[in-house]
Order: sequence, then C-alpha cells, then structure tokens
Amino acid sequence: MSTHPMPPSPASRSVRLTGWGRYAPAQVLTNADLERMVDTSDEWIVSRTGIRERRVAAAHETTASMGAVAGLRAIATAGLVPDEIDVIILATLTPDYWMPSTAALVKEAIGNTRATAFDVMAACSGFVYAYATASAYIAAGMARHVLVIGAELLTRFLDYSDRSTCILFGDGAGAVVLSASDEAATPVGIEMTTEPQGAYMIWLPAGGSKSPPSAETIARGEHKIRMEGRETYRFATRTLASTALAAVGRAGLHAGDIDLFIPHQANIRIIEAVAKGLDLPMERMYVNLDRYGNTSAASVPIALAEAVNEGRVKPGDHIVLVAFGAGFTSGAVAMEWTADPARGPIGDAAVRPEDVRVRLPVDWDSVDPIPPALAEVLGRPVVPGVELPLDDVVPGEPAHAHSSTR
Ligand SMILES: CC(C)(COP(=O)(O)OP(=O)(O)OC[C@H]1O[C@@H](n2cnc3c(N)ncnc32)[C@H](O)[C@@H]1OP(=O)(O)O)[C@@H](O)C(=O)NCCC(=O)NCCS
Repeated sequence: MSTHPMPPSPASRSVRLTGWGRYAPAQVLTNADLERMVDTSDEWIVSRTGIRERRVAAAHETTASMGAVAGLRAIATAGLVPDEIDVIILATLTPDYWMPSTAALVKEAIGNTRATAFDVMAACSGFVYAYATASAYIAAGMARHVLVIGAELLTRFLDYSDRSTCILFGDGAGAVVLSASDEAATPVGIEMTTEPQGAYMIWLPAGGSKSPPSAETIARGEHKIRMEGRETYRFATRTLASTALAAVGRAGLHAGDIDLFIPHQANIRIIEAVAKGLDLPMERMYVNLDRYGNTSAASVPIALAEAVNEGRVKPGDHIVLVAFGAGFTSGAVAMEWTADPARGPIGDAAVRPEDVRVRLPVDWDSVDPIPPALAEVLGRPVVPGVELPLDDVVPGEPAHAHSSTR
C-alpha cells in the first residue's frame, strides 16, 4: 500500500524544521566484544555491514530516558521551552512498556504539561512516519510546535547467540522539532510505503496478543528479534532509492538537486547500492553506522543531528531522510534546510543526561534489564567525554573526525 500525502495547499501553514538533537549511551560494544560471544570476526562484520561498534544503554537507561534527552536537546536547539510543544510523537519498536506510550513518559520527563503524546510503530521507518504525521498536524493547523523522537533500546531484545542479528543493532535516540511558519513554504515531498508480504522477514514473535508472554515463549526464545537477512537486504536495495526518488519528485526536485541523503544506517553495502542506483557519489550519502550500528527508528534522527552539527548541511541545501524496515515499510522526506546549523551544539550542551529522570511507580521495581551476555561490557568503566563530542567540531571537517575523542 502506498500513501500519497499532498503538498501543503497555499491555505495551510508551512512547516519548518527548527530543532534537532541526539543522545547515544556512553558504553561501547565493539566487534571485538562480539567475537567473544559468537562465532564471528571484526573482518566479517566490517566487510559485510560497515559496522565497527555500537552503543549499549546502561541499566538505568530506557527508551523514554534516551528519548527525553534527545527531545530536550532538540527543543533547546529550536530556542523553545518544553511547554511550548503541542504534540509529542515518539517512534520506537522497543517501548518502555506495552502501555502507557513511551511518548507519555517522555512528556512528563521533559516537564511538558500541555502536549498530546503518542507513539508510532513502523519499525526502522518509524521516525519518517512520525515526521510525516507531525508535518500533517502542523499543515492542518492543529499544532504549532511538534516534537518528533526516534528512540530505541534494541540491545535488550537481541539474541546474543544469533550471530546474524546481534552484530547489527545498537541503542540511542534522536529528535527534531517541527514548527509552523508564516514564511513562504519551502520545497517538501513525503513518500511512505508498506508491503505486508514482508511481515515475517523481521519480527519479534511473542509477547503480543497472538502469543502472549509465558514461560514457554521465553523458553522458545520468542521475545528476541528474528530476521531473514538476505530477503531484508533485497527489499532495502529495491525500495530505498525508489522511495527517496518519489519524495524528491513530490518536492519538485531531481536526485541531482539533493546535497545530502541521510539514509537509515543499516548496512554500508545497502547505502552504496542506493548511491549507485541514484547515480550519485558516496559523498552525498551521510554515514555514521560504523559508530552506532543500526539503531532502528533512532538511526535517521541521530544521523541528521550529527550531519548538521558536523557542518554537512547549510541553509538552502536540499536533503533527503530515507528509511526502510520491518513491515516491510519505507519512508522518505525531501526538504530544503532552513535552520542555522550553529544552533545544534548549543542545544546539545544545554541538556545533561544525568539531569533527566523518568518517574517509576513507588511500589514497583523492574528486574535487572541487562542481558547476561552484556553484563561484562556494561561493567566496564566509561571513558569520560564520550557523550558530548560535538562542541569541538569544526564545520566542514570530515565525518567521523571526532570518533577519536574516546
Ligand atoms: C545480515 C547481513 C549482514 C548478512 O550478510 P550476507 O552477506 O547477506 O550474509 P548471508 O546471510 O548470506 O550469510 C553468509 C554466511 O555468513 C554467515 N554469517 C552470518 N552472520 C555472520 C556473522 N556475524 N559472522 C560470521 N558469519 C556470519 C552465515 O551463516 C552464512 O554462512 P553459510 O554460507 O555457511 O550459511 C545482510 O543480509 C544484511 O545486512 N541484511 C539486511 C539486514 C538489515 O538491514 N536489517 C535491518 C532492517 S531495518
């Protein structure tokens, strides 16, 4: 099924991206760590995926806590205070709980008293779907400022004996603020697709109404992510370029007009195939999967925030956010960048993760959330300075230049 949102009519308000922010947990899980858990090698992982390391949330962190940090940073970058946000839309496939929504927890954690808050579930395409929803709210005049978050804590849903999946995924969160503007509309195009014949190519079998949680589903290992890698790869390479092109066309642009593609960070070979399909050099593709792996719905907003803060995007540039994922789903947003990139580090520096708390019920405590396979990694001391490397970034410096800050 394909949806075809119309561009805003002259009567509707224009939508501007005014804030962006991201958060990545400090602890790093390297390919060398995975070599000690499963029959794999750094050489295999790097050559087949491009991933060198990924982040792992600490025991006290959750999808909501990471989403709240990224969200507060995006709000600060936009020059707003939390109570100016009218709607909070959070994309995740790893919510804190089945209910309430993770967005509701984020609303309280960031100190917002006014917003409508809800989650969107479209797996790795979730952030783009949430972005489209936020854009429609604003264009319809139903909201002035919408906080859109992609946040994932995937490392608690991986099978650390399955080498085909546990090497791919990591944790983190990214966010943007979309705002209504009275200024003239800039080019924008959105495309989303859903192909349910791929429904069981990436899935988490148990815990839902078809197979509620039980000792038996746990024993069968059905609460962990399963994936048919080759089929998923085929879908990604088939769909990413066509979805991106559809969005670009709807914005009235051509692929050659796009200054930077910010694709879902799943596999470097998929991104290279997209560049080839679009006949574009890899310099037009933003890549940070070597440092984060696949963070699902968080991947595109983390990449966007880093690309902007690294000086890869300037006002007037045309960019494309494009993702694919379970469902099978895909989604793309083509847009003109209008915000001042210099605001990114200001927003990041304004929020310290240790100041953000997600409230727990007074009469309940969770069991230890840490997968036994990751206990050793999470017990290691964290090198200070990992979390906020962006304030010393010189605009225009090459991608990954600050990965040496560890
Ligand atoms: C998962 C993926 C990296 C595997 O790469 P691939 O080149 O397709 O590899 P294959 O699945 O064909 O497996 C090739 C061999 O490597 C082995 N292998 C799989 N994972 C391995 C690992 N981590 N280390 C070493 N060997 C591994 C397989 O068992 C297979 O061995 P065999 O030939 O003896 O059966 C790739 O299919 C992929 O990226 N798919 C898309 C996944 C994705 O993006 N998911 C998220 C969607 S949002």
